[in-house]
Amino acid sequence: MTTIRPMRPTDLMQVTETDAAAGILLPWTLNQYARELINPSAFCWVAEEDGLILGSLTLWNVAGEGEIANIAVHPSHWRRGVGKALMQTALQKAADLGLTRLLLEARLGNLPAQALYRAFGFQEDGIRPGYYSNREDALLMSRHILGG
Ligand SMILES: CC(C)(COP(=O)(O)OP(=O)(O)OC[C@H]1O[C@@H](n2cnc3c(N)ncnc32)[C@H](O)[C@@H]1OP(=O)(O)O)[C@@H](O)C(=O)NCCC(=O)NCCS
Repeated sequence: MTTIRPMRPTDLMQVTETDAAAGILLPWTLNQYARELINPSAFCWVAEEDGLILGSLTLWNVAGEGEIANIAVHPSHWRRGVGKALMQTALQKAADLGLTRLLLEARLGNLPAQALYRAFGFQEDGIRPGYYSNREDALLMSRHILGG
């Protein structure tokens, strides 16, 4: 069974390997993740099954608004509900924190991620041209948080 739980320092090797396998552009290093684990405004989770890390998500609380900073699932486990479970955890946390909105950006060509976000009620706010390291445009998306 897949469990979503807070990320620990001992997960970081597998988390960075999963990011790389998932093809994240400019993936965070071990040190960057280690800093997020002690950042009081950051909330990092992993999806774990039998000791194996299948994916992770990092949520930032940026002055009362949430930002999905990172989400990745290992390709060997795509389309099995892991991304959905991570997103549900982030949305619940955002509501618990009383955040008003959740924001994120996705590569314009990243249709799987956009489909996941749309399934969670995210809507398009606009485009940030040339945002990514490969000069690809970013699609900006957001949704309100009930009760926030
Ligand atoms: C985006 C990503 C996290 C989705 O993870 P996942 O575990 O495969 O997603 P889920 O199985 O929970 O899918 C949930 C829903 O998202 C949508 N979705 C996910 N992958 C999709 C795809 N390839 N095509 C179309 N819709 C997709 C569907 O609505 C899906 O629901 P369904 O399977 O019932 O139709 C994963 O594809 C990934 O790690 N991609 C590479 C990293 C990345 O792009 N991160 C986001 C950066 S902005």
